[in-house]
Amino acid sequence: MTSARLHLDGQIHEFPVIHGTEDEVGIEIGQLRSQTGAITLDSGFTSTGACTSSITYIDGANGILRYRGYPIEQLAEESDFAEVAYLLLYGELPNAEQSAAFRADLTYHSMIHEDMKKFFEGFPPNAHPMAILSAMVASLSTYYPGTEKESRDANFVRLIAKIRTLAAYAYKKSIGQPTIYPRNDLSYGENFLHMMFAVPAEEYQVNPVMVKALNMLLILHADHEQNCSTATVRMVGSSRANIFAAISSGICALWGPLHGGANQKVLEMLEVMEKDGGGYQKWIDKAKDKNDEFRLMGFGHRVYKNFDPRATILRKMTGEVLEELGMEDPLLEIAKNLERVALEDSYFVERNLYPNVDFYSGILYRAMGIPTNMFTVMFAIGRLPGWLAHWKELREDESARIYRPRQIYTGPNERKYEPLAGRG
Ligand code: ACO
Repeated sequence: MTSARLHLDGQIHEFPVIHGTEDEVGIEIGQLRSQTGAITLDSGFTSTGACTSSITYIDGANGILRYRGYPIEQLAEESDFAEVAYLLLYGELPNAEQSAAFRADLTYHSMIHEDMKKFFEGFPPNAHPMAILSAMVASLSTYYPGTEKESRDANFVRLIAKIRTLAAYAYKKSIGQPTIYPRNDLSYGENFLHMMFAVPAEEYQVNPVMVKALNMLLILHADHEQNCSTATVRMVGSSRANIFAAISSGICALWGPLHGGANQKVLEMLEVMEKDGGGYQKWIDKAKDKNDEFRLMGFGHRVYKNFDPRATILRKMTGEVLEELGMEDPLLEIAKNLERVALEDSYFVERNLYPNVDFYSGILYRAMGIPTNMFTVMFAIGRLPGWLAHWKELREDESARIYRPRQIYTGPNERKYEPLAGRG
């Protein structure tokens, strides 16, 4: 298949067809409007590709997710977040020298400018950490105003290194504890846990089980091709706004409950179900009722019409981590039972609604001591390398133009302005 034909108003128009490396098919309709005067309309972009990309491959029908060709299952089991971040950004796994240099950079750029600590004082104590994070990331641009050309790679490192410091400071601020500085002898994940949970009065030992779980969680979230937040980063990046502005926009997009904000909502939902204690069927019925705005949070996905492979990994990992930590969490049982009941219900079966990555991640975060309102921040830390890789890909694409969708106007036709006195 090399071209596609469109019959419109008695005329035939031909458009080139392009194939991806996994045989995905796209009809290039860039010339559609100039040839025919018409545009395509695809609310929610269900069938619209905005770019070609060599970063992440998803086969939603078969539950496949690969970063740069590597299956997510292998990366989650055998790699760590710093290595995956490098892979996403530069396309290949690092060799020993590149790996050491990248890790050293992440360590030595983890502090934020001391003046930025004052910003945290301006937020109310109950401020949502996602609001703080997006504001802080945008503010980084005032400290690093260098041109894109001279500071591109340095800014990648700054962002990946500093986002965990900003996140941990936001948390410490919310619980009224002093901020804890990063340590140069700790790895990426260890440093984050240290800044989150150490207190000046005590020695803090980082638990290796937590570090393993954290690395896996961050890897599972690291990229997911053209989702809402990544498309936002590309959109803002296409105007050539600075990289901090583009990433800050991505953080805001991620915050929504239909996207990354779902992980917080899942846990809140499971807690309500636990308190209610009244079985699962009524929640399933509520989720099915079109007059009720309740949805089963953590269920359904635009791309996966089969199991989300990340949810499968997380379900297993959550059980293992709780066991290793000697913890039991009734919410895990509730989640498993809810999953079972939903997957036996024809409404969920017919619509291919399966648990997504957010369904089990909250239980794991909870076991790690991370508070519910920080869950989406954790997602943002994980997704950052993916956003950066997409921003880089966009900026390196010489054919990329500013993103500017069209519309079909459905408002009033031209009418005459009436001055206020004559409007009746
Ligand atoms: N509970 C109940 N019904 C659902 C759910 C759900 N969680 N998800 C979808 N449906 C139903 C819809 O009502 C719709 O039914 P209909 O065809 O009878 O009208 C059908 O399934 C298709 O759903 P859409 O909303 O059209 O699917 P879309 O691809 O636009 O949305 C989304 C995907 C936003 C993830 C949706 O499934 C949802 O709201 N899920 C809950 C929120 C969530 O978990 N978000 C996290 C997604 S993963 C991530 O961003 C990392």
